Amino acid sequence: MAECIASMLMDEIVPALDKTGGKVTVVGVGQVGMACAFSLLTQGICSELSLVDVAADKLRGEMLDLQHGLTFLRNVKIDAGTDYAVSAGSRVCIVTAGARQKEGESRLSLVQRNTDIFKGIIPNLVKHSPDTILVIVSNPVDILTYVAQRLSGLPNNRVIGSGCNLDSARFRFHLSQKLNVAPNSAHGWIIGEHGDSSVPVWSGVNVAGVRLRDLNPDIGSEEDPDKFNELHSEVVNSAYEIIKLKGYTSWAIGLSVASLVSSIMKNQRRCYAISVNVKGHHGIEDDVFLSLPSVLGENGVTHVIKQTLTAEEVAQLQKSAKTLAEVQAGLKF
Ligand SMILES: NC(=O)c1ccc[n+]([C@@H]2O[C@H](COP(=O)([O-])OP(=O)(O)OC[C@H]3O[C@@H](n4cnc5c(N)ncnc54)[C@H](O)[C@@H]3O)[C@@H](O)[C@H]2O)c1
Repeated sequence: MAECIASMLMDEIVPALDKTGGKVTVVGVGQVGMACAFSLLTQGICSELSLVDVAADKLRGEMLDLQHGLTFLRNVKIDAGTDYAVSAGSRVCIVTAGARQKEGESRLSLVQRNTDIFKGIIPNLVKHSPDTILVIVSNPVDILTYVAQRLSGLPNNRVIGSGCNLDSARFRFHLSQKLNVAPNSAHGWIIGEHGDSSVPVWSGVNVAGVRLRDLNPDIGSEEDPDKFNELHSEVVNSAYEIIKLKGYTSWAIGLSVASLVSSIMKNQRRCYAISVNVKGHHGIEDDVFLSLPSVLGENGVTHVIKQTLTAEEVAQLQKSAKTLAEVQAGLKF
């Protein structure tokens, strides 16, 4: 009947194409997955969105709720299913599924639980979208990016973790508040492991190219009278504080992931502190993923920026790499 009315309403010139070429899948429709989906939709980043989760009712509820908002957005085809067939042909697959940190729990303690969950997710995604780029968000994100690369068999450039992209955004926000400029005019990079042992690169912190270290040689150190080092402590404690206050984190991670996906979909080649395979960088010999500033475009990560780091910063990165390699060695695949 509907087809009949459609043919009375319109003359067909050519059949409509089913595939749009701008498809993104989000696995896990929890707080983080839905914040990613909402950011993607409201910013017009994809033309097709598929959602996958094991919780069928929640999945359908979230799909319907998003679909009902489409009148106010650019038209996007939204689909959902517990079967990975729904994800077929995705240019980017975002993985947010898994257990989240409980109050006071460290990210590393989640590792085997979420590795087991990934065994059921990653091979299915690649089966239906062999050319996809995987963006891993689930924690502990650096190790799970390594796990995803191993389970997927995809080249390193097509498996990235959201890594320190969020930590860097939090850092820039805190800097901006201290200096009274907009967050995107306060430049600074947090690299290394997402979370507790991340590394702030104080030598590069600047506003309009003016390096704060040139104005305050002690910036970031214990001796700093301006106590800029507290900004990094706030970054490290952010997730714990937000989880304590509201139970989970969602909006900032959703926006930060949408920015990554936009850079891939539109081949923007923007630089982000994302989790990439760091073997061979800064003297790291282990096959681990940590965040370094990287160029992100339609082919995934194409370049890693050779940041000038102090000996102490390099030592911190190498220590994180060793810790991650030890945890990885204990994982059961
Ligand atoms: N990388 C970051 O910066 C960052 C920031 C925030 C949260 N996270 C992480 O993101 C993850 C998700 O957090 P959340 O708050 O959305 O959790 P949540 O509990 O709200 O949602 C998790 C979702 O995963 C689904 N799920 C579980 N097992 C699954 C499976 N086998 N297949 C498909 N779906 C499955 C659940 O049904 C649920 O809907 C956590 O690991 C959290 O630590 C990462």
